[in-house]
Amino acid sequence: MSEFARAAAIGLTDTPRWLPCRYLYDAEGSALFDKITEQPEYYPTRTEAAILERAATEIRGATGPVTLIELGSGSSIKTSYLLSAYTGANGTVSYVPVDVSHAALRSAGERIAEEHPQVDVVGIHGRYEDAFPLLRQHSPCMVLFLGSTVGNFNHVESLVFWQRLARHLPRDDYVLLGVDLVKDKSVLEKAYNDAAGVTRAFTKNLLARMNRELGSGIDLDQVEHVALYSEAWQRVEVYVRFRTAQTVHIKPLATTVEIGAGERVMTEISRKFVLDDVTKYLSHFGLHVRRVYTDDRHWFGVLLLQRS
Ligand code: SAH
Ligand code: AVI
Repeated sequence: MSEFARAAAIGLTDTPRWLPCRYLYDAEGSALFDKITEQPEYYPTRTEAAILERAATEIRGATGPVTLIELGSGSSIKTSYLLSAYTGANGTVSYVPVDVSHAALRSAGERIAEEHPQVDVVGIHGRYEDAFPLLRQHSPCMVLFLGSTVGNFNHVESLVFWQRLARHLPRDDYVLLGVDLVKDKSVLEKAYNDAAGVTRAFTKNLLARMNRELGSGIDLDQVEHVALYSEAWQRVEVYVRFRTAQTVHIKPLATTVEIGAGERVMTEISRKFVLDDVTKYLSHFGLHVRRVYTDDRHWFGVLLLQRS
């Protein structure tokens, strides 16, 4: 909790104001994210799921038997296609989901134990980088980073992430990466402004979590969700906008932050990618593309990479 308090105090007093997106995922946030994936406007999950369903057997053929380590696994629903392919007729596979959301990790683990008895599941409750030192002992392995969660990193976070991952990933081991691709602005903005208001609730839950855990006392009725696509930055930017001035309490630090009427706080970015750029970028980290899968509309890409 003190880490959350510190992050909130630092982000809210910065210019421009921001909050780290990993705090979006408490039990409520993870449940709301799962609901987002079912909204008609939010195409990434179902598009990637269809790609994985089609490609899973071929991916298994390309990598041979490996331990699957999934970063930001959430509900692990799409992973089922891979788990089925890696267990085959009567094989077994080790699966290591890694997530900051304890609730998501636990329910995914329980479901997989029930639905895939041949899968040996050991979850890690923590941040992505907490799993990196374990890669060597799980080699040969494939790191799964699906859902375009990589798009939630800014450029510096991305650089640090790939540098660390490439340093820890044994040579010849694999990464399976899902990336949401650049597309029409209206499709993107609809995906982050669904008509049922689930994304709005997901964003506002970050402030609700501050009220619950940090005693922030934010009037949520006076705060709105804003999601806009920046073509210049190739990213969706998500903000909470304060309609009225409010005093935000951060009780564990015995401090307050004054936010003025009309001010915005950035809660998340979701970068969109061009396949050739991703391929070039990752080659700088010794990660080379072995297979690329996409859908008919070229809305989403799944890349199988190998460290060399
Ligand atoms: N991979 C799933 C879930 C994506 S949602 C899918 O494709 O649908 C992003 C997930 O990453 C959430 O479950 C969230 O709890 C987790 N997460 C976010 N930041 C994290 C971090 N820094 N370290 C570990 N997990 C993180
Ligand atoms: C997890 N991540 C890839 C989602 C995204 O699309 O950037 C999170 C999300 N935020 C709002 N809707 C979905």
